[in-house]
Amino acid sequence: MTATTDVQKISILGKESIHCGFHLVPYIVNTVLTELPASTYILITDSNIAKFYLPAFEKEFRSTLSGLLNGTHARPRFLSYIIPPGETSKSREGKAAVEDFLLLNKCTRDTVILALGGGVVGDLVGFVAATFMRGVRFCQIPTSLLAMVDSSVGGKTAIDTPHGKNLIGAFWQPEFIFIDAALLETLPSREFSNGMAEVVKTAAIWDDSEFNSLESRSAEIFAAIQTPSTNYAGRSEKTRSDAQKLLLSVIIGSISVKAHIVTIDPTEKGLRNLVNFGHSIGHAIEAILTPTILHGECVSIGMILEAELSRQMGILSQVSVGRLTRCLKAYNLPVSLADPRIANLPSAKLITTERLLDIMKVDKKNQGNDKKIVLLSRIGATYEQKASVVPDGLISKTLSESVTVVPGIPSFNPVKMTTPGSKSISNRALVLAALGTGICRLKNLLHSDDTQVMMAALSELKGAKFEWEDGGETLVVHGGNGSLSVPPKGKEIYLGNAGTAARFLTTVCTLVQKPPTGESETTVITGNARMKQRPIGPLVAALRANGSEISYLESDGCLPLSIRPNGLSGGIIQLAASVSSQYVSSVLLCAPYANEPVTLELIGGQVISQPYIDMTVAMMKTFGIEVIRRVEKDTGKLLDIYDIPKGSYQNPSDYSIESDASSATYPLAIAAITGTSCTIQNIGSSSLQGDAKFAREVLERMGCEVNQTATETTVQGPPIGQLKAVEEIDMEVMTDAFLTATVLAAVASGKTRIIGIANQRVKECNRIRAMIDELAKFGVSTNELDDGLEVFGKPVEELRKGVSVHCYDDHRVAMAFSVLASLVPGTILEEKRCVEKTWPNWWDDLQNKIGLEVKGVELSTPSVSLSSARLSPKSVILIGMRGSGKTFIGDLAASALRWTFIDADNYFETVHQVGVRQFVHENGWPAFREAETKLLKDLLTEKDLLKDWVSSGGLVVHVSRNIGEIIEYLGTEGSRPAYGEPVSEVFERRATWFAECSNHRFINHVEAFADGKIVVDPTDTKRGVREEVSRFFHHISGVSANLAQNLMPGHRSYFLSLTYPDIMLALPKLEELSVGVDALEVRVDLLRSKEDIEPLGKHIPSETYVADQIAALRRVTSLPIIFTVRTVSEGGAFPDHAQKEAFSLLKLALSLGVEYLDVEMQLPEQTIKQLVARKGATQFIASWHDWSGRLKWNSPEAQAMYNIAAQNGDIVKMVFTASTMQDNFDCQAFALKMNGRPGAKPFIAINMGAVGQLSRILNTTFSPVSHPLQPSRAAPGQISFAQVQKALHLIGELPAKKFYLFGNPIDHSLSPTLHNNAFETLGLPHTYELLETAEVGEDIKNTIASPDFGGASVTIPHKLNIIPLLDQLTPAAKVMGAVNTIIPTNDGATRILVGDNTDWLGIRGSIAARVAVGQIHAALVIGAGGTSRAAIYALNDLGAKVIYVWNRTRSRAEELRTSNLDMNIQVIDELGQWPSGTTAPNVIVSTIPASETSFEDEPDRLFYPASLYSYRDGPAIVLDLAYKPVETPLLKLAKMTASNWDTAQGVEVLLQQGYAQFEKWTSRKCPQGIVSRKVWEVYYNRV
Ligand SMILES: NC(=O)c1ccc[n+]([C@@H]2O[C@H](COP(=O)([O-])OP(=O)(O)OC[C@H]3O[C@@H](n4cnc5c(N)ncnc54)[C@H](O)[C@@H]3O)[C@@H](O)[C@H]2O)c1
Ligand SMILES: [Zn+2]
Repeated sequence: MTATTDVQKISILGKESIHCGFHLVPYIVNTVLTELPASTYILITDSNIAKFYLPAFEKEFRSTLSGLLNGTHARPRFLSYIIPPGETSKSREGKAAVEDFLLLNKCTRDTVILALGGGVVGDLVGFVAATFMRGVRFCQIPTSLLAMVDSSVGGKTAIDTPHGKNLIGAFWQPEFIFIDAALLETLPSREFSNGMAEVVKTAAIWDDSEFNSLESRSAEIFAAIQTPSTNYAGRSEKTRSDAQKLLLSVIIGSISVKAHIVTIDPTEKGLRNLVNFGHSIGHAIEAILTPTILHGECVSIGMILEAELSRQMGILSQVSVGRLTRCLKAYNLPVSLADPRIANLPSAKLITTERLLDIMKVDKKNQGNDKKIVLLSRIGATYEQKASVVPDGLISKTLSESVTVVPGIPSFNPVKMTTPGSKSISNRALVLAALGTGICRLKNLLHSDDTQVMMAALSELKGAKFEWEDGGETLVVHGGNGSLSVPPKGKEIYLGNAGTAARFLTTVCTLVQKPPTGESETTVITGNARMKQRPIGPLVAALRANGSEISYLESDGCLPLSIRPNGLSGGIIQLAASVSSQYVSSVLLCAPYANEPVTLELIGGQVISQPYIDMTVAMMKTFGIEVIRRVEKDTGKLLDIYDIPKGSYQNPSDYSIESDASSATYPLAIAAITGTSCTIQNIGSSSLQGDAKFAREVLERMGCEVNQTATETTVQGPPIGQLKAVEEIDMEVMTDAFLTATVLAAVASGKTRIIGIANQRVKECNRIRAMIDELAKFGVSTNELDDGLEVFGKPVEELRKGVSVHCYDDHRVAMAFSVLASLVPGTILEEKRCVEKTWPNWWDDLQNKIGLEVKGVELSTPSVSLSSARLSPKSVILIGMRGSGKTFIGDLAASALRWTFIDADNYFETVHQVGVRQFVHENGWPAFREAETKLLKDLLTEKDLLKDWVSSGGLVVHVSRNIGEIIEYLGTEGSRPAYGEPVSEVFERRATWFAECSNHRFINHVEAFADGKIVVDPTDTKRGVREEVSRFFHHISGVSANLAQNLMPGHRSYFLSLTYPDIMLALPKLEELSVGVDALEVRVDLLRSKEDIEPLGKHIPSETYVADQIAALRRVTSLPIIFTVRTVSEGGAFPDHAQKEAFSLLKLALSLGVEYLDVEMQLPEQTIKQLVARKGATQFIASWHDWSGRLKWNSPEAQAMYNIAAQNGDIVKMVFTASTMQDNFDCQAFALKMNGRPGAKPFIAINMGAVGQLSRILNTTFSPVSHPLQPSRAAPGQISFAQVQKALHLIGELPAKKFYLFGNPIDHSLSPTLHNNAFETLGLPHTYELLETAEVGEDIKNTIASPDFGGASVTIPHKLNIIPLLDQLTPAAKVMGAVNTIIPTNDGATRILVGDNTDWLGIRGSIAARVAVGQIHAALVIGAGGTSRAAIYALNDLGAKVIYVWNRTRSRAEELRTSNLDMNIQVIDELGQWPSGTTAPNVIVSTIPASETSFEDEPDRLFYPASLYSYRDGPAIVLDLAYKPVETPLLKLAKMTASNWDTAQGVEVLLQQGYAQFEKWTSRKCPQGIVSRKVWEVYYNRV
């Protein structure tokens, strides 16, 4: 049996105890039994592994044992013990369990233990072996790759405690380590990658050539574990496949290094520390992310960060960092914390530089306070033969997300340097050399995403072979001469977001020839989500026309593509070249390998970026293929036609890639701005790159001295502050350099105009906008042009310091602003990593080669770049289907905001001088649509600009309406033409467009209530719409957000959680339900329409249904809405795994402009960020819910959760579950502590469960309440608002107050009815009583001095006399010179009595309910007494254009006018007679007693003529402030003669002013419907 097993042995600590091979079970059993005689053999494994391998071991042991000994000797025993899988088994308890098993089975000192498993089993079992009976023999049989190459080798054993990992353990060497690589076939692939991190690490510190093979053979290595071996293939060398050999050699290579190091330094004194490369930072990350992210994954990121640290210290080259990155990526390992696998975790929010440094303090390697880190010096070698001491400052600089540059003179002045290889040249050289014949050594190649992706893809296509030399400084390309093959079935070529790679490779893939035999698969190239939106259409169209079979697998015009291996036909290829020159280069580069010589004709208008095409042609020539560009015979003019001969590229043996000219602009610009000198080697006048002209054409003209040879450029800047503006620079040939020019222009004297750069709007970001927005932060003015911008330069001293620059993830923005940062103190460049695209070590070079100090900066809050622009006054654009109600809504909104409204239809008429219908009649439909499109383009600019506008914070509201309603409406509406095609089709077509181009959606629910479903008075509906529109637009425009007032400290706020499946059911009783509360929560997870059949917890309500529900709710209430999608795991009914759907609903909420959005913090980080970016005026409630009862308020987790929520939300919400009363006290203590922090955000801290009720009573911010009328409670333990008030009163938190009415006579007053009913409804313990006195005397003085005085209403005759007793008057009371309300407030310790006047609010409310703000053409006030002052004040506030006043004694009316000169008041002599040429009033208010009036000509009575009501063109209202009779002559006249006039009587005004009083006293909304019913009842009983 052993004869057929081939094992390779590795020596460790002087003994060949590591045995490696495939399918070793029989070999292991045999070796153990013969080499390690014992009475008992115990195999310990975890249940995952037992399932696969325990039976084989058991069988082998039993058969061998029975075969071996059948005499009289005691036969050795074989026992097995299975532990649960996972790290938790590596504990004291886990160890005790194994020991108890051994003891129970009477194991003795001569036992041999076999650890079959991953690192967990190995560490635990090893430690048991080390201490059991003071140490027994054991063997490691590692089953995970990590265990094979790392944990099983070296004798380190350990268990974890709650204080940390591996803190208790021992060095205990195994007798044997059996590496059976066949075991890896069942290992999950993520676990394999996890182990590869250690393999890559070992090669990186020790063995360059090993690293080379890992780097280039990842695909084969993966394949080796993915193809199962049958029939024990691999057990003998004869049966071993190439893949198996490769796998084994990788494992053995890695183990050998570790074994070597361990042998030299068995107890980790020095050298052995080297294996900790990547672990210092990796462990710190792991401490936060475990167990979700695996050890190897954390170490992978740690390696990159530690390598960057070394690069930053000038020890390691960027090339090596790039190789390490690429290699780890190839094994599917994350290389940065921005990796979505990590960034999306909630716990990722806990990773801060400070926290990582703190964790790193406890590293075993440290020397005292100094941290020690293994520094790489190149691939395969470390800086020292041990870990090196690194100061904290350097580590935190590496870890920080943002940087700042310390301004000054570059210390290496005059600077001489090269910049990274040109990206364009690198990309082209790579394709040329790969397609060429022979070997080419590429020097100064840029390691970018594009080159990495391109190399991987070319290897995948078997188009070329790549190798590194000189520690990676040189790339050796073995050209494949254009021979390419289809990748293995199912293998797609993944290009990430590498744009150039995608374009070049598309044509390269068409070169793939049909395989001679077998089926011909296709080549599939794909990319990430962003790549799938980038255009490739023109190139694909050209190749298709040439006969290539290319199909789009997802959306037309974008990747992924499937390409048939037919070869490229050649001949004439026509290509549209006005979008990207890369299409042209792509075809040119591949053309020599077409079947026929290619003639490439560029069509479709102006060819873009000609210099890049010239570059391609020039480089092809260097590689031996001469392209001929045709010229027009007569004129000699160059044509856009290229002839490319058939042929092969002849690789030059060496090719040195020119430095990147765009990158060179930054150091040159630093010289220019700091008045120093800089020489860039490797770029000069002979350069192929357009940006090489920057020095001469920009810097020289700005006042620099420029010297350029063919291969070198030197710039000497003028003294600081003396750069000159350039009137106009056309940068079309060097568009990428415009950002550099722009920052220089910012400090140059005068205005610089930069043009020719329109294409920069569609780069990594809209760069023109980005520059404008970021320069504005410095206080620099700019002016956007169609194809560029103007910059108004400013002296440096006047630039704002300490600006934080948002970089839009765009390398050029970051580097350009770092030029400005070298001059302007305190400038912060956010997102420093975005330079990775072209100059990953820019920050290091800035410090190490230029000599400007760069420091790490930790931003305290994530940068939110959009919100600042939001509140600037901008127009609101409404878009939507014809008939959706844009005009109606727009009119209302404009009048509410007092902005101008431009109606597209009217605009059309103005422009075309004819009505729409007539236009169609005369010109037909197509002409109309064309005209309309053009018009909309003019009006709204193009679609993309609309989108841009949205993304820069502009408001576009999509007015949407039910399609059925639209069709019906359009059918009845004659003045506008129908569409000329079915409306529903137009609707479908445009719906997505509208959604895409808008950031808000207003649902115009015109008919929702009219069909009798809901019992609402039609006037109420109209008012509802008006109020809704006004609220919505005020809110989203930020003019005045509709937020809950009681969120202020010192107030208590509440929300009602609506638990109806259909909110329509709640609407009729909404007022009762919502008494006292400040907001309404819509539990979206509980919504379900009649058609929804899935059970709760599985069900997702449709967006249309949810939007309709919100719209319906808003029609009847002005309370802010809290939009909540509560998941099952957080106590709600929304499916846990429907995060995408939850995200869509949350986005919907933002577009509807809901006031509050509950965002669960367990959502992926990315989701939360995206929501924050578009939140607008909506406030976030960042919430955590622990349903399990596990979390305690005084735990560190609670603190961490609070911090995360406070970082992301405007309001923090934490809901735990109480099991004891103490939990409530802890909750209260925690809340008090957090609320005491400076700048604390409003905090909802409550416990669920019946025991948690007390916490709901004590909580001050947005306490959730329920109501007895509701079908079910939102959460267990919820009580009603009134119950909470009663409870607060009982525990002394809400003392009873007394309120009064002062006046005489007042015994008929309705106020006690109003207020006492309101108090009772809300559960408030207060009372309201009458205090009737003839004068303001002792009675009143004593009353208001009493501590339980809550407030008072004041009426005739005390409204003036009360004033001397008060401390302050509100502006309204001052203007009217009278007080009707006393409000006691507290100014710290002293009580202040404020006198207010709510009479005007009563009048205002009654009018505003019928006539919209701004719609009062003229108003009439009859009478000139005290109440008329209130009337005038109210009318003016409502925007009345003119107020007529009539009084019997004209002089009193004149007095009224002169004391309000700022208002437009006109005194009139005769009622019903208005100045000629004016509009008659549409509002009339009478303040005189009704008994003295009549509309018939009666003696001694004031006569009301019918001409009072001559206004007939719209809504109008007459208000009679007299209480008696119920119908006064003035009102009766209106009812008899004028149907458009609405009437209101004094009681209504009394009610309205009473509501206002109540709200001022209690800061709660008065339950108006409930109290008004009572008041009217009492009123009618009396009259
Ligand atoms: N002692 C050391 O020098 C050292 C070094 C590195 C890591 N470690 C320790 O190693 C542990 C991690 O080891 P690990 O990554 O192997 O974890 P692990 O033991 O938990 O194994 C990972 C997972 O893979 C499963 N698994 C293992 N082999 C399998 C196979 N062949 N087929 C199917 N499933 C298989 C396991 O059941 C487990 O679920 C940690 O506790 C770490 O502290 C120790
Ligand atoms: Zn490790």
